[in-house]
Amino acid sequence: MKEFLWGVYPYLSLMLLVVGTLARYNYDQIGWTSKSSELLEKRLLRTGSLLFHWGIILVFFGHVAGLLVPVAVYQAVGISEQLYHLGAMVMGGLTGLMTLVGLVLLVLRRLGVRRVLRNTSAADWVALGFLIATVSTGVLMTLGYNVTHLPYEYRTTVGPWIRGVLVLHPDAALMAGVPLVLQVHILTALALFAISPFTRLVHVWSLPLAYLRRAPMQYRRRGLPLPSDRRGRGASN
Ligand code: HEM
Repeated sequence: MKEFLWGVYPYLSLMLLVVGTLARYNYDQIGWTSKSSELLEKRLLRTGSLLFHWGIILVFFGHVAGLLVPVAVYQAVGISEQLYHLGAMVMGGLTGLMTLVGLVLLVLRRLGVRRVLRNTSAADWVALGFLIATVSTGVLMTLGYNVTHLPYEYRTTVGPWIRGVLVLHPDAALMAGVPLVLQVHILTALALFAISPFTRLVHVWSLPLAYLRRAPMQYRRRGLPLPSDRRGRGASN
């Protein structure tokens, strides 16, 4: 079972992520969207979405620093184990909470605003369910387990395991002593990767970078004359 969970399941998940995403991109270009609900409700969306998206971007960089950078690199630059874990707990705790609060706000908005609820599909609920499970177990580990026990040294277990997965050489034995809550976190994260191509989460791959370069757009209220109309009228008077 352990061999399957930590040696086979990660590849099933990543395969679904890659193949599913490519297939969806090929066959469902029109549905390739996060389907904005901004017109249905704006106030909660603005707060929830900002907290969630900034939080998850920062959490992503935290995962890169904690899992892809070997512990020897930290030792080489003089960052002790205590200093690393203090930093990881403070930064990870803050960014994790930011993500979780944003996510909870977005879920409450979907449940509480009737128009948004009516526009929520089954796939949206599945994605939200896996997001809640993954983010809450991550925060529980960082702020719950690490505070009530000694900080867990995932840089010598989960870190080498995930790097092994990425180079097609997974060592399931590394995951044997990992705390249960962290194991559940990783298993739900892998499930989230697997289902993401079939949900609105595909928008992760469509960063609107063109926005940064495009000419600004002007919106005006219906019925107001254009500046050029006004100039025209002035000229004839
Ligand atoms: C296979 C992929 C993943 C692995 C191996 C992984 C592993 C970890 C580890 C080791 C921690 C630190 C626990 C501690 O502080 O002791 C953590 C925390 C966390 N993870 Fe993940 N994670 C993965 C995917 C994800 C995903 C996809 C999300 C979000 C959707 C996520 C959200 C979080 C959050 C919010 C925290 C708490 C804040 C932090 O410490 O960064 N993780 N994860």
